[in-house]
Amino acid sequence: MRNNILAGNWKMNCDLPGTQSLIAEIQAEGIDNLDCEIMVAPSHLFLYAAFNASLNSPIEVVAQNVSQHHKGAYTGEVSIDMLQSVGIKTVIIGHSERRDIFKENDDQLRGKVSACIKEGMRVIFCCGEHLDERNSGNHFKTVTNQVEKALFQLEDKDWKQIVIAYEPVWAIGTGETASPEQAQEMHAHLRTFIENKYGGKVASNTSILYGGSVKPANAREIFAKPDVDGGLVGGASLDANSFVQIARSF
Ligand code: G3P
Repeated sequence: MRNNILAGNWKMNCDLPGTQSLIAEIQAEGIDNLDCEIMVAPSHLFLYAAFNASLNSPIEVVAQNVSQHHKGAYTGEVSIDMLQSVGIKTVIIGHSERRDIFKENDDQLRGKVSACIKEGMRVIFCCGEHLDERNSGNHFKTVTNQVEKALFQLEDKDWKQIVIAYEPVWAIGTGETASPEQAQEMHAHLRTFIENKYGGKVASNTSILYGGSVKPANAREIFAKPDVDGGLVGGASLDANSFVQIARSF
């Protein structure tokens, strides 16, 4: 059985006091009886403070990215070992902003995924098409290519460490949320794609999250779709009340 998951991607937002107060505000909203796992992804700088602030709560603190290398001359990078040393067990990989702005390619993403799986990390792997790819009818091929190139080297047993986040790039930060039907269509396509390679058990046990302008007003209808197992939320996760309202939408 796969889990419902709500993850907040805080991106490059919140300083140390802001990180600590946002976590306290989320906890103060009352999150003890949710029907989902709840995660937040602050800046790498504040992971340890966030981990400590979340110790006695259902919140899991996750990382926004990681190097495929364990140590060495990689200025500015953060390693898996470093994340694990501050209690982090889950990492987001392949966000469209890492692909588009920082030019992370499929080979690099495959390397990151393989390194994380080898070290026992859980991976939230992001995929999603640009508007021109959807408008030209190439959105399914784009998304399955991203998944195949970064994940299909994995063995069946590795997939218990994989969560997929489908984030149509045209919906990220735009207020142009994919319709529940668009989300369901792509999620079902991805689940079938995984099933064709790994079989029904892996496919049915893999959580597939939707991301892209998820808000309290649209979350319930999107999350109600059979192949949508939660959300990866950006802007709305920076407001405690909105984020917890979304967490209560399952
Ligand atoms: O990773 C989640 C993020 O890309 C979605 O952002 O602001 O559209 O919820 P937003």
